[in-house]
Amino acid sequence: MAPALPRQVDVLVIGAGAAGMMCAIEAGKRGRSVLVIDHADAPGEKIRISGGGRCNFTNLGASPKNYLSENPRFAISALARYTQHDFIALVDRHRIAWHEKTLGQLFCDGSAKQIIAMLVDEMEQAGARLALSTSVEGLTHGEAGFTVRLSGGTVRCASLVLASGGKSIPKMGATGFAYEVAERFGLKVVPPRPALVPLTFAPDVLARLTPLAGIAVEEAVVGHGKTRFAEAVLFTHRGLSGPAVLQISSYWREGDEIIASLAPGIDVLAHLKAARARHGRQAVQTVLAEILPKRLAQAIVEAEGVKANLADCSDKVLARIDEAVNRWRLKPNGTEGWRTAEVTLGGIDTSSLDQQTMAVKSVPGLYAIGEAVDVTGWLGGYNFQWAWSSGWAAGKAA
Ligand code: FDA
Repeated sequence: MAPALPRQVDVLVIGAGAAGMMCAIEAGKRGRSVLVIDHADAPGEKIRISGGGRCNFTNLGASPKNYLSENPRFAISALARYTQHDFIALVDRHRIAWHEKTLGQLFCDGSAKQIIAMLVDEMEQAGARLALSTSVEGLTHGEAGFTVRLSGGTVRCASLVLASGGKSIPKMGATGFAYEVAERFGLKVVPPRPALVPLTFAPDVLARLTPLAGIAVEEAVVGHGKTRFAEAVLFTHRGLSGPAVLQISSYWREGDEIIASLAPGIDVLAHLKAARARHGRQAVQTVLAEILPKRLAQAIVEAEGVKANLADCSDKVLARIDEAVNRWRLKPNGTEGWRTAEVTLGGIDTSSLDQQTMAVKSVPGLYAIGEAVDVTGWLGGYNFQWAWSSGWAAGKAA
């Protein structure tokens, strides 16, 4: 049988994810009595599955410019006070081996479970208690603090930390709990929407994409407005995915167009013209396959209705192919939604929060951290860094 819950603690953290555990560690180190609860039966489930099981736990280049928020300046303080280098030092102290994969992204050599074990160990050392398979059944607030009715008993606390994450991947226990509590206390919530998520397309476009499923263009550029990401694009049975597409999904809005370059840095028109001058009898797709995966080259040429050899193609036709390769305009009709989204865009409005401490300005003792807050990182370890930084900041104050 699980040990009885304490009746009173200084700090009650709801959510034993990345942010909640980090907050509990820092609050515990300050001598606060801390209880962390989670309705899941294991802590850090998203850490466990992250980075393909190796957890991309931070990014060497993490800075406020890698985050989206209605107030882009909000994250500056926490990110500066607890940096990627602070987290790397913690990982090193626990002798967890890591490597940089690409673009400053740091992964465990072994397993994401090492990061969870590290956090659980740090919580134990700091004297923070963890209660799993525990849900919140009621919550009241008075002069003396908060009274929280949990499935295992009622707990009073002076500080209550909302660390229950966002809505992505409901199958893993994600809920809108933090938003509901925030709204109850009169805080604004920036409408949550799935982010870092594959994009989907209307049937006519999808019919052209699905035969290409499985093809990866390793060095593509995908843009929306002035934002560009140079990473891989993956064709799937449901549409487009891959890092560049996931990144741009955080910026894309319904009705907007995205633009893809499948051979960035290559002047496709010049390449085709040079080939026409040298070997006019070659098929266009053969030459295009020198710079693109063969099946993709073939599909582009077919979609443009080009059947002739290079010699019989006018400059205008070659320019059209160039356009299809490097200025490919697409209008997604949606995203794959919460089921596959890596994060939630939006959340508790930062104007309600103190940027140094993550405290809710209008409700003494209430804090919000991690993905529950309207701060969303790019793909590449930035979201965990926000969880560590905001959790640390709240842990120093709660
Ligand atoms: P998180 O979601 O981690 O934790 C919230 C906790 O609250 C959960 O344990 C949940 O069970 C609990 N909870 C929710 N509602 C509750 C309720 N009502 N009562 C009690 N408990 C409740 N980021 C990154 O930087 N690098 C990466 O490699 C990846 N990889 C990745 C892969 C996949 C598949 C996903 C879905 C996401 C990622 N991410 C990522 C994003 C990253 O996982 C995410 O941003 C952080 O986990 C957010 O940390 P939080 O602690 O805020 O929420």
